[in-house]
Amino acid sequence: MSVVPYSTTIIIRRSLSSRPRHDTRLDKNHRFLVDRILRVDHAGELGADRIYAGQMAVLGRTSVGPVIKEMWDQEKEHLRTFEQLVPKYRARPTALIPFWNIAGFILGASTALLGKESAMACTVAVESVITEHYNDQIRELIKDDPTANRELLDVLKRFRDDEQNHHDTGLDHDAEQAPFYKALSQMIKFGCRGAIWLAERL
Ligand SMILES: [Fe+2]
Ligand SMILES: [Fe+2]
Repeated sequence: MSVVPYSTTIIIRRSLSSRPRHDTRLDKNHRFLVDRILRVDHAGELGADRIYAGQMAVLGRTSVGPVIKEMWDQEKEHLRTFEQLVPKYRARPTALIPFWNIAGFILGASTALLGKESAMACTVAVESVITEHYNDQIRELIKDDPTANRELLDVLKRFRDDEQNHHDTGLDHDAEQAPFYKALSQMIKFGCRGAIWLAERL
C-alpha cells in the first residue's frame, strides 16, 4: 500500500504535468554552450584555412602541393559551414577575425619555409589538437542534452573525422622527419591550445 495519500499523488501529478517542458535556466546554459562552441570552431576553421593558404603560398608548386590543396579544400568547406551556423544559432562571432587571419597564415607559411616535413609537422600538431577539441565538444554536447542539436553534433563528428584524416596525411608525408620534430610539435600544440582558450572567450 502506498504511503502517499491519494490526494497528494494527484497534486504531485498535476504539478509535474503543468511544469514547463523546458527548464529555462538549462536552456540558457545550453545556448551558452552552443554559442561558445560555434565561436571557437568558427575561429579555429578560419585559422586552419589560413594555415593551409600559407602552406600553399610556399609549397603549392612542389610535390606536396596537391596533398595540401586537398586538405585546404576541406578546410574551406568547414569554414563555410560555420559561417552559416554562427548567424543561424545567433552566436556571437569571434572578435579576433583579423588576428586569426594573420596568425594562421604566418604559422602555415613559416613552417612551410622550413621545408615540407616541417609543414606536415605543423599539420599533425594542429590537427591533433583540433581533433581532440572536437571530441571534447561532442562529449560536452551529448552530456548536456543527448537529444538536442543533432545538426551541430553531426557537423562536429564529420569535421572531427576530416581533421583526423589530415593528421594521418601529415604523418604519411614524413612529418616526423622534420628537424626538431618534437620541439616544433610541442610549441605548435601549446600555441593552438592558447588560441582555443582565447577564441572561446573573445
Ligand atoms: Fe577544419
Ligand atoms: Fe583540418
